[in-house]
Amino acid sequence: MKRYTTVFLVGLVVLLAVVLAGVLVYMKNQPVQQRAVAPIVEIAPMEPDSSKWGINFPNQWASLLKTETNNIDTTYGGSSQFSWLERDPRQVILFAGYPFSKDYNDDRGHMNMLEDVRATKRLNLNDEDPKHTPATCYSCKSANNPALWDEMGMEAYDAMSFNEMTPNIHEPIGCANCHEASSMRLIVTNPALDEALKAQGKDWTTFTRQEMRTVVCANCHVEYYFQGAGKYLTFPWAKGTQIDQIVEYYEESGFKDWEYPETGTPMLKAQHPEFEFFTAGSTHYNAGVSCADCHMPYVRDGASKYSSHDVKSPLLTVEQSCGTCHTDTEAVVRRVNTIQEQIATTKQDTEDAIIDAITALKAAAANPDADQALLDQARNLHRKAQYMWDFVSAENSTGFHNPEYALKILAESTNLARQAQMLAAQSVNDPGLLATGTYYKTAPAQ
Ligand code: HEC
Ligand code: HEC
Ligand code: HEC
Ligand code: HEC
Repeated sequence: MKRYTTVFLVGLVVLLAVVLAGVLVYMKNQPVQQRAVAPIVEIAPMEPDSSKWGINFPNQWASLLKTETNNIDTTYGGSSQFSWLERDPRQVILFAGYPFSKDYNDDRGHMNMLEDVRATKRLNLNDEDPKHTPATCYSCKSANNPALWDEMGMEAYDAMSFNEMTPNIHEPIGCANCHEASSMRLIVTNPALDEALKAQGKDWTTFTRQEMRTVVCANCHVEYYFQGAGKYLTFPWAKGTQIDQIVEYYEESGFKDWEYPETGTPMLKAQHPEFEFFTAGSTHYNAGVSCADCHMPYVRDGASKYSSHDVKSPLLTVEQSCGTCHTDTEAVVRRVNTIQEQIATTKQDTEDAIIDAITALKAAAANPDADQALLDQARNLHRKAQYMWDFVSAENSTGFHNPEYALKILAESTNLARQAQMLAAQSVNDPGLLATGTYYKTAPAQ
């Protein structure tokens, strides 16, 4: 009896083992579990055509498309292409000798970028001219770029002219500028950003999701310059992203965008440093708020909630953009108005100081007896003053992203401009050059 029980038990164990092995083999051969919702279409890596991604994500695509036609203005920003040179004619003087003095319009919605970059009078399409526009100018303007950079490398891309690159560029911004197709996670796509972060010892693949909701904008909304003969796209961040560190970087590199006529100053043009400006200890950045929180708020479409890709002035969507954190939205909008008005007027005082410096410098530079060492010092102060002013001016929020920082930079810029004026006067020993308010004498007729 006992033997039969043993045989039965052994048989049972063997049987169970065989069944278990069978189940394991069966499970191992099942297809890998996919995401809860399978993609409707497979999207190729770095696919430039956003309409293909749009089949899977119609809400994000439809909202991105809205940026093409949303041309609404706010007091200081918004999406119409008003001319900065008409709105503030001092800038015609400040950018004299440089294409920005001929054509400088405000930015508008993302889907217009390709049309706008091709229409600007700042382009020089004569490839025979050594000053022709390089392909680098397309770097922030197209969803074709990630694939092109991957195929040819950024060095070869930047070495081409704007003209030569044009046939390769068909798409304005697209999903491929911000997302990885296979996972839809946010990624750094611009090699210049990747390199600038690495130069600071940072690895974006370790950043949190909330950090990426800001860093993804830094693919384009940053200060940059074209390095060397190959016009290699470079962010001047090796010493850090604060204004003093960037100024120091440019001092060491000796880079100049152009030479100011009649003063001989080696000038710098600031681009659109939204990222550097916002992340320099602003109240919102310190509180962990991201660019996307204000510019890409969650919106509803029936039961589904998605990030609005209709990126624009948050003053046009205050309830969605600010109402998630601020209960009294009317009060915060009033505060934005106060901040912007204060910065816009302070900015003009700074412009007057720089124009006074330019006027004094021109007179001193025309005088053959001028003390050249003092004159050079004055030029260097002019260079720094204008760059600092431009850092605030070219930043697109009229100071809102970081109001204290804006006022600090403008104060320092005004101080440097007045010092430049004094040194220029001293270089020719002419107190007459200390006169202020010269803008009103040199202003172009409106
Ligand atoms: C706390 C909310 C908030 C955050 C965070 C924020 N912005 Fe803004 N942004 C604003 C407001 C408000 C304006 C001013 C809009 C205006 O004047 O109409 C603005 C203006 C802008 C503009 C110009 C818009 C226009 O109408 O011309 C750009 C570009 C911009 N922001 C980009 C960024 C980027 C990039 C980041 C992150 C680095 C960022 N913003 C972070 C609120 C925010
Ligand atoms: C691939 C480059 C690129 C990326 C990435 C990018 N932008 Fe832009 N953005 C631009 C360009 C170029 C313009 C100006 C387009 C024009 O004027 O035609 C612009 C314009 C804007 C404007 C002005 C819109 C208006 O209606 O006046 C805002 C606001 C803005 N961007 C915010 C952001 C935010 C926030 C992010 C990150 C979530 C971001 N951008 C990411 C290139 C980019
Ligand atoms: C300028 C950068 C940018 C571009 C261009 C862009 N996105 Fe996004 N997208 C974002 C950001 C930022 C988020 C928020 C991500 C988060 O919170 O993790 C987001 C979120 C998403 C999400 C997650 C769900 C949601 O709505 O929050 C999907 C899906 C998506 N985008 C699809 C697309 C598609 C499709 C396109 C092209 C038609 C596109 N995106 C273009 C920046 C971009
Ligand atoms: C994700 C949360 C969040 C969002 C979204 C947000 N804020 Fe704030 N905001 C804060 C926090 C946190 C502070 C810090 C002070 C406080 O606790 O109120 C602040 C402070 C401010 C201040 C006072 C700063 C100062 O120094 O005067 C203003 C003005 C302001 N926000 C405007 C806005 C506007 C306008 C928007 C929408 C475009 C906005 N905020 C969106 C979180 C947010």
